[in-house]
Amino acid sequence: HTETQTLLRGRLLDFHAAPADEMDTDAYTYIKDGAILIEAGKIKATGVYQDIAAQAPKAAVKDHRPNLLLPGFIDTHVHFPQVQVIASWGEQLLDWLNNYTFPEETRFEDPKHSTAMAGHFYDLLTSHGTTTAVSYCSVHTASVDAYFAEAEKRNMCMIGGKVMMDRNAPDTLRDTPQSSYDDSKKMIAKWHGKGRAQYAITPRFAITSTPEQMQMAQALVAEHPECFVQTHLSENHDEIAFTKELYPDAPDYLGVYEGYGLLTPKTLLGHSIHLTPREIDVLAETQAKPVFCPTSNLFLGSGLFDDGGLRARGIQNAIATDIGAGTSYSMLQTLNEGYKILQLQKQKLHPLRAFDWITRGNAEVLGLSDKIGTLAVGSDADVVVLDSHATHAMDLRMQRAGSLSEELFILQTLGDDRAVSETYVAGVAQKNGAATIVNAPA
Ligand code: GUN
Ligand code: ZN
Repeated sequence: HTETQTLLRGRLLDFHAAPADEMDTDAYTYIKDGAILIEAGKIKATGVYQDIAAQAPKAAVKDHRPNLLLPGFIDTHVHFPQVQVIASWGEQLLDWLNNYTFPEETRFEDPKHSTAMAGHFYDLLTSHGTTTAVSYCSVHTASVDAYFAEAEKRNMCMIGGKVMMDRNAPDTLRDTPQSSYDDSKKMIAKWHGKGRAQYAITPRFAITSTPEQMQMAQALVAEHPECFVQTHLSENHDEIAFTKELYPDAPDYLGVYEGYGLLTPKTLLGHSIHLTPREIDVLAETQAKPVFCPTSNLFLGSGLFDDGGLRARGIQNAIATDIGAGTSYSMLQTLNEGYKILQLQKQKLHPLRAFDWITRGNAEVLGLSDKIGTLAVGSDADVVVLDSHATHAMDLRMQRAGSLSEELFILQTLGDDRAVSETYVAGVAQKNGAATIVNAPA
């Protein structure tokens, strides 16, 4: 038949579980001269280059040797209306929100502004190797429409939702319990399941929602079990104290969300730093997922996420940038800072586990590992190409690298968008120019 096929050649790496170390070879596949055969946006075959090439004599070969080919990175917590908030000086969470973030998000009432920023946002994601993100939009439906319309244009697997917020924010940034319900319903009907899009019901956090709005969020979650839920939890001590004032009857911060039925295995809880034993029990029971945001937690001085403690309780977590409190779009730089946060707690992050985390691990938390996060046959062809020699410093350090683990650690410590030589979304190159094209199809 005549379907166009593309063959990517390079060193293949993907994961089947979180590896303990390089000896844990059941947990990952590494092929030194490998290939990914792509047809109709999906992975049709992977393996040793000679074998795959023999099956696909007419495929256009894109030769990325000696670079690494991995599944595209997944960012599980990011704020698309904060692309012009990143790098705002001097504040911790609540003042940072009031002084920088809320005024900026006000601009997204304007569809033109939302559309322009969505274009920049997706350019930034893919240039940093990220092919799927879970994002907060602003309170305005215009921002949700812009977010998903741009994702549809680029055929990207994106999750997001309208922020619900009806108090403790400027007039221009508040909805009402009823309008937040109606608008969320409208956006779910319009976007959930359209192309690769999925919707996340998004009460911003307990401080910006009245009990009446929480009830509306509860109704949405009950009526739409197919959707994700995302919110923020226990990021900052002042935030926790204010939440207790606003919800005096809740046993603790997580108890607010628990009381409104918001905790399911599809619930993503940004930060989850300062947790009580009871809250940890509730996470283990409900399988709601904490999301570690290393660059943000350091930037806002929020605290140290206890990855080891949560894992020991069988609680699976995800990792994310949290732009605009986060300071890099790069999941490599996110790992770099994550490694240091774990170091401060005498916890070790092995580079193989690190790369599993930002690919398959995050996909599994989202329940999407059959579609994204690995190079398995049948998956969507979202692929990142990494150049371990991208900078002078990396090239020099690579001269002393003797193993795959060392190479990955150099990538996560020194790498950023400069190390991303190409990003494929559903088989389509987003940067165009990195590969040597060997034989173009007729
Ligand atoms: N808590 C509520 N909203 C936000 C936000 O936009 N960023 C961060 N880091 N924390 C939040
Ligand atoms: Zn956030």
